[in-house]
Amino acid sequence: MTTVGSGQPVVTGSPLPWWMSAVVYQIYPWSFADANGDGIGDLAGIRAHLDDLAWLGVDAIWVSPFYPSPMVDFGYDVSDYCNVDPLFGTLEEFDALVAEAHALGLRIIIDWVPNHTSDRHPWFLDALTERPNDHRNWYVWRDPRSDGLPPNNWVAAFDMSASAWTFEEASGQWYLHLFDSAQPDLNWDEPGVVDAMHDVLRFWLDRGVDGIRADVVHCIGKDPQLPDNPPELAAIPHSALNDVPITHQRLRDIRKLIDSYPGDRVIVGEVYLLSTEAVATYYGNGDELHLSFNFPPLYAPWSEPHWRRCIDSTVHALAPRDAWPTWVLSNHDNPRHRSRYDAAALFRGEDPASVVRRSELRARCAAVMLLTLRGTPFLFQGEEMGLLDAVIPPDRVVDPGGRDGCRAPLPWDGTDQHGWFAPEGIEPWLPFPDESSTRNYASQRDDPDSVLHLYSRLIACRRSHPALSLGEFTLFDAPTGVLAYRRTLDDQVCAVFINFTDATVAIDHHFGIETSLERAPATVAISSNGSGEGSPFDGRLLPDQAVVLTR
Ligand code: GLC
Repeated sequence: MTTVGSGQPVVTGSPLPWWMSAVVYQIYPWSFADANGDGIGDLAGIRAHLDDLAWLGVDAIWVSPFYPSPMVDFGYDVSDYCNVDPLFGTLEEFDALVAEAHALGLRIIIDWVPNHTSDRHPWFLDALTERPNDHRNWYVWRDPRSDGLPPNNWVAAFDMSASAWTFEEASGQWYLHLFDSAQPDLNWDEPGVVDAMHDVLRFWLDRGVDGIRADVVHCIGKDPQLPDNPPELAAIPHSALNDVPITHQRLRDIRKLIDSYPGDRVIVGEVYLLSTEAVATYYGNGDELHLSFNFPPLYAPWSEPHWRRCIDSTVHALAPRDAWPTWVLSNHDNPRHRSRYDAAALFRGEDPASVVRRSELRARCAAVMLLTLRGTPFLFQGEEMGLLDAVIPPDRVVDPGGRDGCRAPLPWDGTDQHGWFAPEGIEPWLPFPDESSTRNYASQRDDPDSVLHLYSRLIACRRSHPALSLGEFTLFDAPTGVLAYRRTLDDQVCAVFINFTDATVAIDHHFGIETSLERAPATVAISSNGSGEGSPFDGRLLPDQAVVLTR
């Protein structure tokens, strides 16, 4: 028996911050729920379903941008950081959302977009005027190169054949935008920008939000030389490469601001670097981000060796810094994991019906893993129903980044409008996912065997077994294709077995500890397909089945 990775013992003595054991649920306001019948989700829709989220058992919601915006990037192009877009509601409704969430014991995390504004933001409009007041230097301007080309070879994120620079005729200069040309990058070297963006944080923290999700936050520092990317990386958007020391000082200042508020407010960063070692540095020495997203696992295929490697490298990169991991399988920027985990089989020409069935079994296994790994899990709205991406006909494509499929509206019931209040003739902004008439919230809530109930049982099990959230973590050997780990806290021991194969596997369920004492019978606390829960484990994992065992 070899132990291939182990977590840190949990720090005792002072109460642990809430976000270490929390389950966070991401809400994409465009698609969560529509209360005013315009085919677009809104804050009132979120408020109407808070009870459902409390029933599911999540501890916090993260709400993606709801600020005034021209919506070129569906809200990640902010034109006023301190208000609510009328599409979604009003500031008063936001305050009501915070109060109602808190009354139900739900914390609320909001998005903060510090790297760029909308090109319609008053700061940028001022920067474009002939005699800008203060704001010209709030953005990143450069003169053309002598050959007239853009200042460097960086490409923009959505259209990777396009330069990350746009030419402004009037001044004869280029401005930088790591994303769409309608999202000019802010210049964080300019003290006015730092002050203004800190004020934005204060504005929302004063209103009672419990945390901040900082959008592409590793990009707020840039190499002052703005050098060309090396040719082999030239086609990769710079947002994936940007990793410079000045960002860390900026994050330390932001962290001080957040920590000056009572109640363990949290900042979770979107550090879109594809190396876990690099991501780990954004925790600093406990003085930068509290949490950071880590994307390599999101991009890992559904395969035991890949996941073992991702877990192992996360443990090894974060443990020396005492940094707390996060785990994410789906979000608003990527195809949903259930869609990803069956795609390869479809390409191999397998029978679509069996692929769809297996993808649900895999998504169930993935839920068991997500909610029992050491770290804070982030769920993306709809994964708790096992949703697939919607198929978007070409004439309904709206996102410049091709991400519409995962952003489809949530089906709340089995009617034609799936619980959306859009009157006849008004289509929701994107089509619903394919299976919505049978796979929706109402039908799953009534069905104890549904994916929804699996998520709710898993979250309840985390609560009743703190070892699953805060315990030490140890991977141990298991038959080929099975991932096995142990979670231990004081005298509580849980073991998790995930069968990535399509065969039944016999396993020796000794929790990776080979003493006779530990061979006491284990009980199935959770089974991804529901079978055998509450009974002694019979030592057999069915194809694509995961179990949580306790004793
Ligand atoms: C982040 C967001 C994404 C957005 C981009 C630009 O990656 O998650 O949705 O398009 O930043 O703000």
